[in-house]
Amino acid sequence: MQYRALGRTGWNVSSVSFGAWAIGGAWGTVDDKQSMAALHKAIDCGVNFIDTADVYGMGRSERLIAQLKRERSEKIVVATKAGRRLSPHTAEGYTAENLAGFIEDSLKNLATDCLDLVQLHCPPTEIYYRPELFNVMDGFVKAGKTRYYGVSVERVEEALKAIEFPNVQTVQIIFNAFRHRPSRLFFEEAKKRQVGILARVPLASGMLTGKITHDSHFEADDHRNFNRHGERFDQGETFSGVDFEVALKAVEEIRTLVPAGVSMAQFALRWILMFDAISCVIPGGKRPEQVADNCAAADLPPLSGETMQAVAGIYDRSIRPLVHQRW
Ligand SMILES: NC(=O)c1ccc[n+]([C@@H]2O[C@H](COP(=O)([O-])OP(=O)(O)OC[C@H]3O[C@@H](n4cnc5c(N)ncnc54)[C@H](OP(=O)(O)O)[C@@H]3O)[C@@H](O)[C@H]2O)c1
Repeated sequence: MQYRALGRTGWNVSSVSFGAWAIGGAWGTVDDKQSMAALHKAIDCGVNFIDTADVYGMGRSERLIAQLKRERSEKIVVATKAGRRLSPHTAEGYTAENLAGFIEDSLKNLATDCLDLVQLHCPPTEIYYRPELFNVMDGFVKAGKTRYYGVSVERVEEALKAIEFPNVQTVQIIFNAFRHRPSRLFFEEAKKRQVGILARVPLASGMLTGKITHDSHFEADDHRNFNRHGERFDQGETFSGVDFEVALKAVEEIRTLVPAGVSMAQFALRWILMFDAISCVIPGGKRPEQVADNCAAADLPPLSGETMQAVAGIYDRSIRPLVHQRW
């Protein structure tokens, strides 16, 4: 495993970390025993950072992580999120009272008296124009409810606006071979301000692992079935917002670039880690084998300039015209 600084937090986090959405829900059937095995495998592989949220299985993901922390002695940094329990999910709902309630519930689920990192969970864009909300977040830090806070965003513009607030320590954003736009202005600005970046959806919901085909079946409660067109939440969260057929074709082109002995998942993660603004990638993993496969990406040698250009070429030809300006 390799470790990178998480912004100004003082934490060095595993460059391949763990995304704990799937073990909570919205990805078809999951089995807690298997999820625990996946979490333990991550720690065995040197992972020391886990991303979760209160809404992932309504506390299920957070509670599994609390169990992991009881069963392991290693230092594990846990980032959770708040805001998505609001229904309807509106800017007006982001009040000090509501957030305090969400944070208390996460403290209970994670069985701790102080969270490591709370991220605003893709709030409406308007939130970034409400400095008073960031003062509220400062208050949670002062009160010892969380060590740090950050944001999870949908769009580059939200990320740029968020880092104007000096105590935003981290930005979580979709970045992968199908989503290149964050790497320009945003990465530069985040580096200047030493803001940590968590690259989410690094495998484009599994698409970039190369295992998905026309015949792949997704259960009714898997967002790859019910959210392909953004029916329930932002379309960009499912297959990175790329049309299924277009994605399958682009994956076949990427496959030709993958060196022998390297899995497509590892290649996809190593591609992201070529960008030094990234603190870590947080691939979701439901099974120990997936976690082991993903973690090995951290120790792969850098990709060649030629390979990086080839991935950029595939993006420019097939993906850019469809998604580049959307997020
Ligand atoms: N709004 C937000 O803040 C937000 C939104 C999305 C995600 N996230 C965070 O980002 C994390 C990662 O994103 P994601 O989970 O959406 O997508 P992802 O990491 O791109 O894809 C994860 C899925 O790919 C499959 N997979 C993983 N490793 C594999 C491997 N080595 N070989 C084959 N298949 C593999 C697994 O599903 P199957 O086995 O079922 O195929 C897994 O659930 C989440 O867990 C969450 O922590 C945050």
